Amino acid sequence: MDQQSTEFEKQDDSAGRTTDSWPRFLEDCARCRQCALGETRQQVVVHRGAIRAPLMIIGEGPGAEEDIQGKPFVGAAGRLLDLLLTALGFSEDDFHIANIVKCRPPDNRVPTPDEAKACRPLFARQFRFAKPVYIVLLGATAYKYFTGMNDGISKVRGRFIKKNGYRIMPTFHPAYILRNDRERVSLFQDLATVRSAMETDGLLEPLDGPPAMPTGRR
Ligand code: URA
Repeated sequence: MDQQSTEFEKQDDSAGRTTDSWPRFLEDCARCRQCALGETRQQVVVHRGAIRAPLMIIGEGPGAEEDIQGKPFVGAAGRLLDLLLTALGFSEDDFHIANIVKCRPPDNRVPTPDEAKACRPLFARQFRFAKPVYIVLLGATAYKYFTGMNDGISKVRGRFIKKNGYRIMPTFHPAYILRNDRERVSLFQDLATVRSAMETDGLLEPLDGPPAMPTGRR
């Protein structure tokens, strides 16, 4: 892993005080024209869930529905993700959902390295607000741009990467599960692994019983 995930920890002033504010951050996101995606977006897509949360869930970039609503993971993939998170007893207070890029790439293409780089300062600020301990990376693009590594997601999913006190879980993107339902169990298991580690760390109350994997898409 390169320095990328650790640079998010930098403080804003020499005394270690945070000079940033969430409203100012949102204004800067709305104003951003650091790459061409800012010209074609309908809305900038920043976050869903709690601002500060023990778990940060990171996707690739907004799709059509997200571009309209201005929130991440509100389309078909998001509905599947929510179904699994709810079955595992997560509530919106437990997580902060974000994307590598905040503006929809035309035709839902993968964000380019330049687009991801242009979005990085805002992402770093967002990361400092979320202050997660656990990080779920949904799919190969989130994995690549967050860690700087290029492995296939099938190879790295399901095992924590421990780095600078963070526990990072790469896993499949829910959009992939919509096309390959036989891998649903892998995504569910990976999220369940995160949940149980968070319980062990005292970050979540234990569930009453073992969670059952839901079928369906919403
Ligand atoms: N896919 C993503 O990676 N992010 C979203 O917000 C929606 C779909």
